[in-house]
Amino acid sequence: MPQGYVVGVGKTRFGPTSKSLPMLAQEALIAALEDAGLTIGDIDAFIVANYLGGPNEGRLHLNSVVAGLLPGVNLPGWRVEAACASGGVAVHQALLSLSRYENVLVLGVERMSGIPGMLLTKNIGMAGDLDLDQGAGLNFPASYALVAQRHMQTYGTTTRDLELISLKNHENARRNPLAHFYHKSVVQADIDAGVTVASPLRLFDCCPVSDGAAAAVISRDSRDGRSIPVLGSGLSTDAISLTQRTVHTSFQAARDAAATAYAQADIVAADVDFAEVHDCFTIAEIVAMEDLGFCEPGAAVSLIRGGVTSRDGSLPVNASGGLKAGGHAIGATGVGQVYEVVRQLRGEAGDRQLARAEIGLTHNVGGVGGTCAIHVMGSAS
Ligand code: COA
Repeated sequence: MPQGYVVGVGKTRFGPTSKSLPMLAQEALIAALEDAGLTIGDIDAFIVANYLGGPNEGRLHLNSVVAGLLPGVNLPGWRVEAACASGGVAVHQALLSLSRYENVLVLGVERMSGIPGMLLTKNIGMAGDLDLDQGAGLNFPASYALVAQRHMQTYGTTTRDLELISLKNHENARRNPLAHFYHKSVVQADIDAGVTVASPLRLFDCCPVSDGAAAAVISRDSRDGRSIPVLGSGLSTDAISLTQRTVHTSFQAARDAAATAYAQADIVAADVDFAEVHDCFTIAEIVAMEDLGFCEPGAAVSLIRGGVTSRDGSLPVNASGGLKAGGHAIGATGVGQVYEVVRQLRGEAGDRQLARAEIGLTHNVGGVGGTCAIHVMGSAS
């Protein structure tokens, strides 16, 4: 039995913009309500997912900020923060809250552009361990660089494999008008020219700094043929410091969340037709595929090398461009993944529509595997 239904979705473009955080939020929420054929009067509660509103722009109490966009409407509303997994956790909470509310609006929103690089890196780093990891210089690119190094040592993964992911996701983003790098054609020479950010990760292994918002209306009941059943919703967490983990080539939180989501959906990994996974760095897409059970540990590279995860392969991964090229507006990302899967499942993805889209999955990670929210959507068997 479905956990709930996504009855409407909306999304802004991800990428730098002069629009304020409330303007981005308003654009996405209006689009989601219109898509659902509902008005705000039909909504019973809302959840705002955001990570950097406080440190980046001194803007907190975001449930009230959103209420300010809805004059005369006084709804139960609250904010969720789980670093880069804020959006996925908000979707999970919305599903849980259907025991009380009929229609819940989930809104993910973030503004990141225009913040000086060092300050932004420090603010993003708050999602990691303050006492041990950050003190040792482990900002986010450095943390994922360690994961990449360990994966290379353990399984023989190469920088060429990382490049293939970057090229694939940039190519996919060229079909997605809402992607950060929609207008950018990326070829091998661009990748070769990229500076090293944290070895072995170079510029084109990193997601960009994006602004953006995404929204979804999640309901207890299906409204019409466009309503998408959420078959499974898994959430798990892990210790924040990498020093507290024994394995650095896999995220236990992702494995646990996937197991819960698959069990609820009554499917196995092989039943998934396509996935939007959290490729904040190219290595993260490899780890995601292995944690999701798409292959054995260490075997993701053979799928990537064989084109299996390309848009015309048998298991397309990040057909939207992913975080790498679609953009990563942190608090909005998990909801943006739901937007993408819903569009694909409805056959509304335009130029990037996949040939086979019956069961889709979202995988949204906070920190370096500290939180993971996974959703399985599509036709119930
Ligand atoms: N991939 C590809 N190109 C990128 C890019 C990325 N990640 N980031 C920036 N660029 C491009 C810009 O489009 C710009 O191109 P142009 O000159 O053709 O316009 C050029 O590089 C310079 O952009 P700039 O914004 O000055 O880059 P930067 O050096 O300040 O930032 C990074 C580059 C990698 C440091 C930044 O993108 C970053 O911090 N990414 C990671 C964000 C993050 O950690 N998120 C959370 C993950 S858990």
